[in-house]
Amino acid sequence: MVLGAGRAEKKVDEEFKSLTQYIEKHLKIQCSNYKEDYIKRRLMSRMNATKIASYREYLSHITTSQEERELLKNALTINVTKFFRDPEVFEVIRRDILPQILKEKRRIRIWSAGCSSGEEPYTLAIILSELALINRDLDGFIYATDIDDEILKRAKEGIYEKQALENLSAHQINRHFTTRPDGKFEVKPHVREKVRLQHHDLMSGMPVARYLDMITCRNVTIYFNESQKNAVARTFHEGLASGGYYIMGMSEYLGREVEHLFKSYRPLQKVFIRAELKGAESMERKTHSST
Ligand SMILES: C[S@@+](CC[C@H](N)C(=O)[O-])C[C@H]1O[C@@H](n2cnc3c(N)ncnc32)[C@H](O)[C@@H]1O
Repeated sequence: MVLGAGRAEKKVDEEFKSLTQYIEKHLKIQCSNYKEDYIKRRLMSRMNATKIASYREYLSHITTSQEERELLKNALTINVTKFFRDPEVFEVIRRDILPQILKEKRRIRIWSAGCSSGEEPYTLAIILSELALINRDLDGFIYATDIDDEILKRAKEGIYEKQALENLSAHQINRHFTTRPDGKFEVKPHVREKVRLQHHDLMSGMPVARYLDMITCRNVTIYFNESQKNAVARTFHEGLASGGYYIMGMSEYLGREVEHLFKSYRPLQKVFIRAELKGAESMERKTHSST
């Protein structure tokens, strides 16, 4: 049956609506929180990957394939982030890690790898600026990197919807953000100036800097295969100073091949400390990093 252009368009709209309803109910992702274009682009990437041409067929595919539901969920949440995501992790950073580093030095260097639209590095900058109230000579900054230039532009703007700030107290919002006429919130200069945003691909095998005190790479390696995950862990080992901290996302883990590179520090919050390498492996790594 050949449908007129108007009716065909209506049918596509209906199929799209059924698909987003399914996603909201079963994948628990609120599609209505995103621009329709964004959802369509992400769906299209999965439909191309599975060689499926219509929303209707794709809906029928995800109802039967657990694997595809996971892949779609990853595709839809690829840049998802918020301030103080998993607050207990940032509490460990504020209460345990940074005071520990401060016992040794005043200038703290952090790398937020896979920083998306900036919420994670700005969260770290907020913590540093709050700690500086009681440690007057504290001086720290955050390298914030991502592979996605569009998302880095958003990070540079530093403008957020109220939803992104739900883990901050009213006092913190007042102190670190200005409210804009459009109701959005903009990070203040004292937070912004601690964050150095730049493009960086974790697959490059090069750390953004060396002798770093802490690296957060959270909810990024979920998209990588085992050997890519291991390579990234080696890159972080190379980038960290002796005794530096590596923090992963709550659902991420260290592969068996690289577990010896780090000691567990706070297992529940996925915080590790760089381990010193012994003998041959240490020599080999030194030779590699100097070539
Ligand atoms: C879900 S966000 C994580 C944001 C933040 N770290 C958090 O936990 O809230 C994942 C980010 O990883 C970035 N990413 C994916 N592959 C990357 C790569 N090879 N190098 C650098 N960043 C990458 C994506 O562009 C995305 O912005």
